[in-house]
Amino acid sequence: MKKILLSSLLLSLSLFATDGYKVYENKCKACHVEVMSKEHALKHFKELVAPPMVEVSQRLKENIKTTDEEEDVDRYLFILFVKDYIVNPNLDNSMCNTGAIETFGTMPSLKGQINEDEKQAVAEWLYDRYEDTKF
Ligand code: HEC
Repeated sequence: MKKILLSSLLLSLSLFATDGYKVYENKCKACHVEVMSKEHALKHFKELVAPPMVEVSQRLKENIKTTDEEEDVDRYLFILFVKDYIVNPNLDNSMCNTGAIETFGTMPSLKGQINEDEKQAVAEWLYDRYEDTKF
């Protein structure tokens, strides 16, 4: 009986799992372009209101590196950082270069506009989406 309960619980969890890309579309896309080449971004800098997501993902991966051989640990820390940053964005935590911060300003906080599941889903998406896409 317990087993049945557990498996139906897991099933419903996966059925209702939040789709990270949908969260991106609804809550991030207005500011962060999904993919753009570095050349294009530099050329059209003035039209951007925030760094493209492909750049954000890459920069965070470059910065969040433990000495640990396990990529899982880095992914975990990346996700923690993103979940925190979107509700507590601040200059001290930002890994944007100063030029970019001067142009864009700090990201407005999404506190109260995004729930735990959505934060987790979009953070995972931000890591996994760009595994094979470089800026
Ligand atoms: C209203 C515009 C806006 C929205 C909406 C927005 N962002 Fe941002 N975001 C920015 C700007 C501007 C920056 C660059 C300045 C900074 O680092 O704070 C930024 C920076 C970031 C950074 C930090 C990059 C770094 O290098 O430190 C992350 C991570 C991020 N955004 C994720 C998200 C996610 C995920 C969403 C959607 C859930 C989102 N943003 C929605 C404007 C936005």
